[in-house]
Amino acid sequence: MLGTNEIIGLTSLPMHILLLGNGAREHALALWLARSPRVEQIHWAGHNGAPPHPKILAVDLPYTDPQAVANYCRKNTPQLVLAGGEAPLCAGVGDAVREMSVPFFGPGRLSALLEGSKIFAKEKMTHWGVPTAAWHRADSLESAEHFLRSHPDSPWVVKADGLAAGKGVIIAQNTREALQAARAMIAEGVLGAAGSRLVIEEFLQGEEISIHVLLSTSASHSQFAILPLTQDHKRLGEGDTGPNTGGMGAYGPVPNVTTTQLNQITQQIIHPVLNGLRQDGMDYRGVLYVGAMITAHGPRVLEFNCRFGDPECQVLVHLIANDPLEVILPVANGQPIPPLSIASGAAACVVIAAAGYPANPRKGDLIQGLDLVRNSYVYHAGTMRDGQSVLTNGGRVLSLVHHADALEHALSQIYADISRIHFPGMQYRRDIGHRALQKNSAELCSQRHT
Ligand code: AMP
Ligand code: GLY
Repeated sequence: MLGTNEIIGLTSLPMHILLLGNGAREHALALWLARSPRVEQIHWAGHNGAPPHPKILAVDLPYTDPQAVANYCRKNTPQLVLAGGEAPLCAGVGDAVREMSVPFFGPGRLSALLEGSKIFAKEKMTHWGVPTAAWHRADSLESAEHFLRSHPDSPWVVKADGLAAGKGVIIAQNTREALQAARAMIAEGVLGAAGSRLVIEEFLQGEEISIHVLLSTSASHSQFAILPLTQDHKRLGEGDTGPNTGGMGAYGPVPNVTTTQLNQITQQIIHPVLNGLRQDGMDYRGVLYVGAMITAHGPRVLEFNCRFGDPECQVLVHLIANDPLEVILPVANGQPIPPLSIASGAAACVVIAAAGYPANPRKGDLIQGLDLVRNSYVYHAGTMRDGQSVLTNGGRVLSLVHHADALEHALSQIYADISRIHFPGMQYRRDIGHRALQKNSAELCSQRHT
């Protein structure tokens, strides 16, 4: 009888993998994949200032260009290609790679529209019966104005249809602010073509969580596996204040979600999505990130992303105990997903951002103390090397991650290590995981009183 490794072709390794993307998410994926004894080399297109690693080869490749990636595959014959972010997926890199019969982790261009077009995603949610915020599609300023003026004054969320690098969602407190956002996007074109059509949706309240689901579909089967739930911290400031960012930290698993709520998520969101994909002939081999709000009326989808979240990915790779290829390769091949082995305890990630982030991040600051970090994994994002020095080179600079028996222990190790790192104007939140920590301490109190 064949073992799992034979079924998914792991014995024919050593493997070369091409990894696309230049953030901390991709650095975490690279080091995760490197842990597999079967991986010989990771060709990392998008390499940043991360330190050299014996299994990682930095390659120069315009990785959002399907043709360039296909040419690279022709010359270098990787046995697996993995995209970290949405840009290559929405550009159709997955389709170009699969046409060459090279396994690719991530959806093709059609399914990536679930992230690339908010209108497409909302239409699919409506059609598939997936619970989401009530919404209006506005293809013109007149349509947006007519809708907003004919509805009661209330908070609205105004979303650009296309990809806008995290700048396409405005939470408007009232109709006046919503009109302002709609005008800026459609009439003034502040987001270019991405903002020429809008979704205007109901503002939802509740606990926001990130649900990552591995989806492996083929003509004969479709399978899913839900990864541990994680929670991102999108605002720059402590107490969830200040401007929205790409994400200032994350942790998982999330204790604030009950088993009943997880069952609702599976029944009301994941099953309808899987059925809908099948009905509509949409292949999906990769990870679907469902941004959801747990409201008083049940879970509601805020957005779909067609890739791992950043910084959620940095947490997840520490919670999956399988050999990474055992998980990634069957999904890329559209084969059954083997049982996941989830580590106990909790993992956390704290992001250190540059001075001026998010509006105007400063580049070129010298980062000191990286050699003093003791217990955390340091994943690089906006960094570059200049000889022996490491300099800031983008908004989110570093992600520090630790996995421990309990969330508070993971966080205390990370914050101890952050105190050893310094660069001018560095910014980070000191309250990552605050919702979970509050819940844990409330439970401890109630146990003491019973
Ligand atoms: P999105 O890119 O759609 O996830 O939006 C970015 C952020 O805006 C989300 O992570 C939420 O925090 C917030 N958001 C989006 N849609 C809504 C909504 N309908 N109600 C409340 N907050 C929202
Ligand atoms: N953590 C938010 C995102 O990756 O979109």
